[in-house]
Amino acid sequence: MLLRLGSGEASFVDFRETAPLGASRDMYLDSLGNVIKGMSTLGAMAAGVPGTVAGLYKAHELHGSLPWRELVEPAISLARDGFPVSERLASSLRELQEYKGRFPGLLQFMKSDGTPLAPGDTLRQPILARTLERIALDGPDAFYRGAIAESIVEEMRLGGGIVSKRDLAGYEARIREPLRGSYRGYEIVSAPPPSSGGAVLIEILNILEGYDLRGMGFMSDQTIHYMVEAERRAYADRAQFLGDPDFTDNRLPRLISKEYAADLRKSITPRATPSSELSAGPGTSREKRETTHYGVVDREGAAVAVTYTLNDSFGSRVVVRGAGFLLNNEMDDFAIKPGHPNLYGLVGSEANAIEPGKRMLSSMAPTMALRDGKLFLVLGTPGGATIITTIAQILIDMLDFGMSLEAAVSAPRFHHQWLPDHISAENGAFGAYLRRSLVEKGHRIEDRTAPIGDAQAIEVRGSAACGMSDPRGDGQPGGVEPAEPGPR
Ligand code: GLY
Repeated sequence: MLLRLGSGEASFVDFRETAPLGASRDMYLDSLGNVIKGMSTLGAMAAGVPGTVAGLYKAHELHGSLPWRELVEPAISLARDGFPVSERLASSLRELQEYKGRFPGLLQFMKSDGTPLAPGDTLRQPILARTLERIALDGPDAFYRGAIAESIVEEMRLGGGIVSKRDLAGYEARIREPLRGSYRGYEIVSAPPPSSGGAVLIEILNILEGYDLRGMGFMSDQTIHYMVEAERRAYADRAQFLGDPDFTDNRLPRLISKEYAADLRKSITPRATPSSELSAGPGTSREKRETTHYGVVDREGAAVAVTYTLNDSFGSRVVVRGAGFLLNNEMDDFAIKPGHPNLYGLVGSEANAIEPGKRMLSSMAPTMALRDGKLFLVLGTPGGATIITTIAQILIDMLDFGMSLEAAVSAPRFHHQWLPDHISAENGAFGAYLRRSLVEKGHRIEDRTAPIGDAQAIEVRGSAACGMSDPRGDGQPGGVEPAEPGPR
């Protein structure tokens, strides 16, 4: 959670999961050193120690103005009274059918006969409502030390997982300094490690600041080429250097410096640099687009940008049956074996190897942009590895090409993450002529049917805050006291 108070003070609440104390570097490898398929993504062993309850409570404790119970109440009502299933949720819930045999806790998201809920049906979660009531009453102690902790440990016993009472009691959300950079005169404030989000975003923007993208033209072959080359280099650095700052020297000052970006620009030519020349390593892609993002600006000008995630859709698929919620499969965000691609095709190295108590690297990039010290944009998106390039594109579309927030959030998206060495492009993003020019420069293009990202953004204009939800998803801007937006 990136937050900025009306006074301008910014901070970051890191509630990333941690590896359990019983975790070890090779826990997902067999005796021959091969990755055991599915072990870091499905089932109790895939779960990191959850951080959300501690993180939200920490933000409340430090900056909240309403009583905690009042804050949790709407969630209790949604769980107890239910809400109508949207088309999109119905489609994800259908995908759960194949897992219900192995993970019977998932039946709580289905009809009583085990068939999927249809759009318009009501999803009620009474067990979750009880859990939330406990959290409303006793705060994080209920989750990390009380009855809910007991239920998590019981689920671990049933499913062969290793999250223990000691892990839960020892979990702490951390307050960190947000990462800061600049782009074309705007200050960019974003997520510090253990997310790679801010560092990779700032590195990409620093490289691109040296090119006249506006002169090259929106979605021209040249613009896309230089954006891809910047992305390729920044993601290669992500794989090599980034990890939990409590365990790893991230070399951040250099990675996000303008001097380093200038050095990298020297290696960029009008032809695509094969990713294998930047560093060696295998990579395959299976990008998904889970995770959640929301942003809020209040009447005092305070703002939060919050990205949080179970990782994959429905996380590890394990429901803590006594408590009614899903466990994450964030352990897959570690480099479970150097060079082995995670769910998003991202590879990593020593910096992100598993160690007890360590936080796994993330791509989450809740971000704010400031102009002359004043809040201008609050931005974020789900999308795993594509989070960072989505944020970079929205910023570039607005700051280089002068696009409106609406146009920038709606514009076609593409993504390159060093490995696999191809540009992943949304359906219809590239026309035939553009495609040919990019291929002639040495790029490979992979079309993807799924959209990239689901951005949520707020632009502050004068005393008004204008929200924009990505047309790719089913989010919605909401607010009170509509005011006439000031000039941009
Ligand atoms: N679990 C996806 C991310 O943190 O980037």
